[in-house]
Amino acid sequence: MKLAAWIKKSGVSARELAARVGATEATISRLKNGHALPSMEMAGKIAHASGGAVTANDFLDLGPETPSSPGNGLDGARILLIISGGIAAYKSLDLIRRLKERNCELRVILTRGGSEFVTPLSVGALVGAAPYTDLFDTKTEFDIGHIRFARESDLIIIAPATADLMAKMAGGHADDLATAVLLATGAPILLAPAMNPHMWAHPATRRNVERLTLDGVSFIGPNQGEMAEANEAGVGRMAEVPEILGAMEIIVGKAGAKPLEGRHVIVTSGPTHEPIDPVRYIANRSSGKQGHAIAAAAARAGARVTLVTGPVGIADPSGVNVLRIEAAADMLKAVEGALPADIAIFAAAVADWRVAQLADQKLKKKPGANEMVLDLVQNPDILKLVSRGHKRPELVIGFAAETQNVVENAKTKRRAKGCDWIVANDVAHERGVMGGEKNAVHLVMEDGLEDWPEMTKEQVAEMLIERVASAFSPAKASA
Ligand SMILES: Cc1cc2nc3c(=O)[nH]c(=O)nc-3n(C[C@H](O)[C@H](O)[C@H](O)COP(=O)(O)O)c2cc1C
Repeated sequence: MKLAAWIKKSGVSARELAARVGATEATISRLKNGHALPSMEMAGKIAHASGGAVTANDFLDLGPETPSSPGNGLDGARILLIISGGIAAYKSLDLIRRLKERNCELRVILTRGGSEFVTPLSVGALVGAAPYTDLFDTKTEFDIGHIRFARESDLIIIAPATADLMAKMAGGHADDLATAVLLATGAPILLAPAMNPHMWAHPATRRNVERLTLDGVSFIGPNQGEMAEANEAGVGRMAEVPEILGAMEIIVGKAGAKPLEGRHVIVTSGPTHEPIDPVRYIANRSSGKQGHAIAAAAARAGARVTLVTGPVGIADPSGVNVLRIEAAADMLKAVEGALPADIAIFAAAVADWRVAQLADQKLKKKPGANEMVLDLVQNPDILKLVSRGHKRPELVIGFAAETQNVVENAKTKRRAKGCDWIVANDVAHERGVMGGEKNAVHLVMEDGLEDWPEMTKEQVAEMLIERVASAFSPAKASA
């Protein structure tokens, strides 16, 4: 495998490469060992990072999927396949065969568009059961019902995923069986888009892909190549069936792996509000997106998660115990109350200062006085207190929001606080990190520094939790 050879020759580790291309180390290992195929976007990033030594074509050198040697990563998995209305729908008939070979419990939904390209009869014959097509069909609704579809799946794969279906998903529509199920499900969703290259490149589709990625939807492909239409080529071709199967195996395998099972993780998130009087407070621009994403990733990794959050305007992550607080002093109390824990990740933007004297009535303007002076005192330093406290979790991670000398300040902060790792991010206003969707961080550890490329806050969370899972010693779990 060319990637493995390049990693060996160049001396760039899988971890470094992962950081450069915005992937997890596990993904790079799977790519390196030929157990997965990258999306075209990822292949492009790897080609760039390797200076062109590893090209996208090198990944296609995996050999054909042979029916006699199917992988077994999907054995017994409950798969819902949605076929929407693109020419590539014919390929999903082969996908059905491969999923049946892998002993999957398979159900199929054909969208209205989908049934223009493959017939319910051919799908039904391959699956061994009629596909579902209609939201308002009494037989379907009483037989299984769209909510059970949503609940009883380990993975939903949409192949092909049309531009239209992606737009509906991004907009939260639920006007047919497929979209209603997609909105109601908590199962992982994988899209294999297929469309004309102009449709794929259109700003509306770009926006929808971005939105869906932020919503946690995974993509395989589309690939570059000839389109089914005559004289059309470019990026838009549906991923090949073996690629789709590889991506499905990764996701189903991930859903099964719970590296933090039995661990208690405390995460803080959001800003604090430091009251001035009954109606005013001092706050900051933290949205809580990063901390909430970390809590969600830790929960997905099987941890019991306590999320202590300041006032935010975003939804609670699922499967997490949420404690809502306002001021830093309350956050400290909530964190102390949640201990013991195995891991604590302090992502909240805790105010350093609070007003010395909280007014019990609304402060009034004083006639003739143009200035108003507030005396501030320091808030408790939650990171330091927990890092140096007698109930210290085995792994304590702080966040440093800096506007200058980001890494140097983070190193100093790590030593001063006594925590294990610092995730440092540049929150200078022009970078748009506070409240934004993306983050570029540096992971500062006692024995090293990693510069991660800019990625979504969800990806930062996923990568951090992966690091936590691999670095965390398998010592006894906290009560
Ligand atoms: C011949 C033909 C081929 C089409 N191929 C695609 C395609 O590959 N990808 C796509 O996104 N839309 C394609 N469309 C448009 C979709 O079928 C259309 O947007 C439809 O409303 C999708 O319905 P659905 O999302 O409910 O399946 C095609 C339409 C026609 C008539």
